[in-house]
Amino acid sequence: MRILLIGSGGREHALAWKLSQSAHASRIFVAPGNGGTATLPGCCNVSIEAEDLPTLLHFARENAIDLTVVGPEIPLVAGLADQFAAEGLRVFGPSAAAAQLEGSKAFSKAFMNRHAIPTGWARVFNSFESAADFAFGLDTLPVIKASGLAAGKGVFLPESRAEAVDQLRTVMVERRFGDAGDTVLIEERLFGPELSVLAFSDGKELRLMPAAQDHKRLQDGDLGPNTGGMGAFAPSPLATQELMTEVEQTVLHPALAAMNAEGAAYQGVLYAGLILTDSGPKVLEFNCRFGDPEAQVILPLLDCDLLEVMTACVKGRLAECPLNSWAGSAVTVVVASSGYPGPYETGKVVSGLPSGELGEDGALVFHAGTRLSSAEGCDSEIVTDGGRVLSVTATGATLAEAAASAYRTVESISFDGAVWREDIGRDVAW
Ligand code: GLY
Repeated sequence: MRILLIGSGGREHALAWKLSQSAHASRIFVAPGNGGTATLPGCCNVSIEAEDLPTLLHFARENAIDLTVVGPEIPLVAGLADQFAAEGLRVFGPSAAAAQLEGSKAFSKAFMNRHAIPTGWARVFNSFESAADFAFGLDTLPVIKASGLAAGKGVFLPESRAEAVDQLRTVMVERRFGDAGDTVLIEERLFGPELSVLAFSDGKELRLMPAAQDHKRLQDGDLGPNTGGMGAFAPSPLATQELMTEVEQTVLHPALAAMNAEGAAYQGVLYAGLILTDSGPKVLEFNCRFGDPEAQVILPLLDCDLLEVMTACVKGRLAECPLNSWAGSAVTVVVASSGYPGPYETGKVVSGLPSGELGEDGALVFHAGTRLSSAEGCDSEIVTDGGRVLSVTATGATLAEAAASAYRTVESISFDGAVWREDIGRDVAW
């Protein structure tokens, strides 16, 4: 099968790596890809941006693509799956109607309320004045969220009512996220550990993957600014069989059935971002794709041919497809550019990378913000090209072994200004 994989981060390198092991994969094109997907056997990058739907569609038609796999949310929310389906092209990922679960937090919250899926209370506002009045009248501190896609930056945790009003002004009046902040949610602030539970779905059946925990803050101890994710581990020790059954029965199955009932059958990865409160798991958000960096720890734990599972989802035949996981744990440590998530320099040569995919102790080095220094393959070096540069994943019999192995590989790689957290999978609080 000829595959078009869309995206350019560590998640997409992990997807390309797992797909490349499939007996059915003949060629994997990655648009636009990164330095890691450029050098992965069986893969090649194509220079098309993930948001450029017309050019992606043209490429898929001209290159006889059998399956398109979408990494990030923006093309799905923009209707890539619908446009491809209209041309008879198969896509692993939900339609625009189903991707609203991530694309509109206002839709998602109303959907959860309509179908009694456990979540915190929220009020939705389209005017700054009404939102500010409401926030000012609260006697507890809320969460403020832009309803639209804001690259993970549209969530605020104010420390005072005055700060809440300032944050609402930033989103609704100064329009930091453009249209994405025209509608805002003021939500209940929930407390407890967070857990990511992802499932494959063919619209009728679900297959749950090992639950992961990610670390969004820049510094050890979950301190410092929020980032796209500085590391993750799976399976989470919090995810007992009992909890996973509860999440399947109270969140994932009801969501799938309700999307069907509303005429928007959900095919692809359904990602529930949960908070484990004293009164049970509640949904913070739904995402319509693999998480990043969750994918970098979940995919190495799946004992399956990923292409067979994705094809079963697309054909509505997941019932025929079991999903098994390897025993053991996986940890990924993100190596970032100094300055990230603020401004940072790029173009730094990365040295110490393994010559194949595997580093010290068999660790996997997934690239995120990298590129080849030139198009001339043999003289080319890998240079930094983003804030999150690498995602170093290792598996082990225990979380501690996986973390030790990942950190040994992290320490063998260097580039000017490399930064990472030291506590991923090591100081797990639960
Ligand atoms: N790790 C969070 C996300 O992918 O949205």
